[in-house]
Amino acid sequence: MKALVLAGGTGSRLRPITHTAAKQLVPVANKPVLFYGIESIVEAGVVEIGVVVGDTAPEIRAALGDGSRFGARITYVHQPRPLGLAHAVRLARGWLGEDDFVMYLGDNFVIGGIKGPAEDFRATAPDARILVTRVPDPTRFGVAELGPDGRVIRLQEKPREPRSDLAVVGVYFFTSAVHRAIEAIEPSARGELEITDALQWLVDSGHDVRAGAIDGYWKDTGDVTDMLEVNRRVLADIEGAVLGDVDATSVLVGPVRIEAGARIVRSTVVGPAVVGAGSLVQDSRIGPATSIAEGCAITGSDVEYSLILRDARIEQAGRIEGSLIGRSVRVTGAALAPRAHRLVLGDHSRIQLAS
Ligand code: TTP
Repeated sequence: MKALVLAGGTGSRLRPITHTAAKQLVPVANKPVLFYGIESIVEAGVVEIGVVVGDTAPEIRAALGDGSRFGARITYVHQPRPLGLAHAVRLARGWLGEDDFVMYLGDNFVIGGIKGPAEDFRATAPDARILVTRVPDPTRFGVAELGPDGRVIRLQEKPREPRSDLAVVGVYFFTSAVHRAIEAIEPSARGELEITDALQWLVDSGHDVRAGAIDGYWKDTGDVTDMLEVNRRVLADIEGAVLGDVDATSVLVGPVRIEAGARIVRSTVVGPAVVGAGSLVQDSRIGPATSIAEGCAITGSDVEYSLILRDARIEQAGRIEGSLIGRSVRVTGAALAPRAHRLVLGDHSRIQLAS
């Protein structure tokens, strides 16, 4: 079996972060979300991995390389425009050949990995196998309707009236039958070749399409809310470790990881939280559920339930929560003009002012 990892796309829901960076490389607990996916593919025994890349190809290639650091062999497939998940599969057709493969959406997060589902696929040998999980609000997802024997009867994309509460997870197991389906379907109203349509074609033409429930946690990290929530979940399982310096007046509470070269000065860090290599936290309060990446400086501020990307500086900023702060961003308190906001914001930035 091969794997096809989709790491192109537009990432419009994560702007402005995605104006300058690939959303699949946003770190969760200081490790890119894409790395968790690649690791779980390798853990499932799949080492031939095709990675579909778009505009952010150089960044993704630099991060993944030839795959040897994951124990995998990576081949890149360039998708000039993000014309849909099924379009990405069509572009990879030559590399995939007639092999079975798992398609993994590079911004998806499955705690517990995909070893079990991969074994089920190998053992039951259907034409395709999707993974589903119960969600409270199915209208935001692809939704599967199943027959009593677990076969897929119908798929709906973000339905207004969902026929079930089973969301389709971004990990799909395919045989080469999917290529015939993709040749047969037309682009959708939004101009994309939809994998949902390819699956529906397989169902309608009598193929055996199965669904298996995942018991673990799944999230698509497409927007900031999901990203923060995944970070919180992953941090919940970290083990505390102090590899950097914590001065005598600072306090660490609960599981906190302080990476090498990080310094905590006159501060409190409430776990779960990580402070990346070389970062400074001074006269501040960090956490819980907060990841500070490498090379950041947080001084005189209170940062909770947030993701701070590398080289960001937050100085005398008061209290920040539920925030995603991009690389090399600078946030400072307004000591001289406390009632005025001075902002330099990139396109599609979103800010919520406290006063
Ligand atoms: P999506 O999150 O569905 O799409 P998107 O990245 O365009 O994001 P947004 O809706 O915020 O604009 O994509 C799921 C994954 O598949 C993600 O890792 C990007 C990738 N992808 C491709 O590689 N090629 C494509 O044509 C599309 C649509 C997505």
